[in-house]
Amino acid sequence: MAIVRIPEQGQTLKSKESVTEYLAGINIEYQTWIPSHPTSADAPAEEILRAYKREIDELKARGGYVTADVINVTRNTPNLDAMLAKFSREHLHDEDEVRFILAGHGVFHIHPVGKPVVAIEVESGDLIRVPRGTWHWFDLCADRQIRAIRLFQDASGWTPVYTDSGEETKYEPVCLGMSYLQ
Ligand SMILES: [Fe+2]
Repeated sequence: MAIVRIPEQGQTLKSKESVTEYLAGINIEYQTWIPSHPTSADAPAEEILRAYKREIDELKARGGYVTADVINVTRNTPNLDAMLAKFSREHLHDEDEVRFILAGHGVFHIHPVGKPVVAIEVESGDLIRVPRGTWHWFDLCADRQIRAIRLFQDASGWTPVYTDSGEETKYEPVCLGMSYLQ
C-alpha cells in the first residue's frame, strides 16, 4: 500500500481511499492489484507476465500500451548509482510511465503544475500511472531494490527529458515504510 506525503502541507496519506483520491486529483492513476496470483515476486519474468495477464491486458486496452516487461534492480545491479542518477533528477517522458511493483520499495516525486510536490512511496501490490509530460523523479529506498512490471506505448521513446529545474534538490527521498532499515 502506497504512502503519499505532501511535504509543503505537512500532510501524510496512508489509506487507500485518501491516496487514490488525492493522486487522481493530480492526474496520477493509482491501483492496488491483489497478489492472489499463484506466483512469487522472484519468479521468471514470463511467469509474472502470464500471472498478471488480465490486469496487463486491461491496462493495454485503456492506455494504448503495446508491450510489457519486468525490470529488476537490486543493490548488486552493475552501475546501479549511474542508472539511478538518470531518474533522480526532475524529468518527463513522451509516454506514460506505468509501473506495477512486485518487490522492493521506491519513491516517486510528482511535481504537478501549480500544485505542491507529492512523494509517493510504493511497494509490492502498487500500480502507478504517471501520464506523459508529467514532471517527476524517482529514488530507491534503503533496500535498494525494485522489481516491477512496466508497460510501454513505444519502448524506443522512453527516455528522460530533463527539466533542469533543480526542484529535486529541495526534497529528501524519505521512505517511511523502510525506516526500520535505517
Ligand atoms: Fe521517469
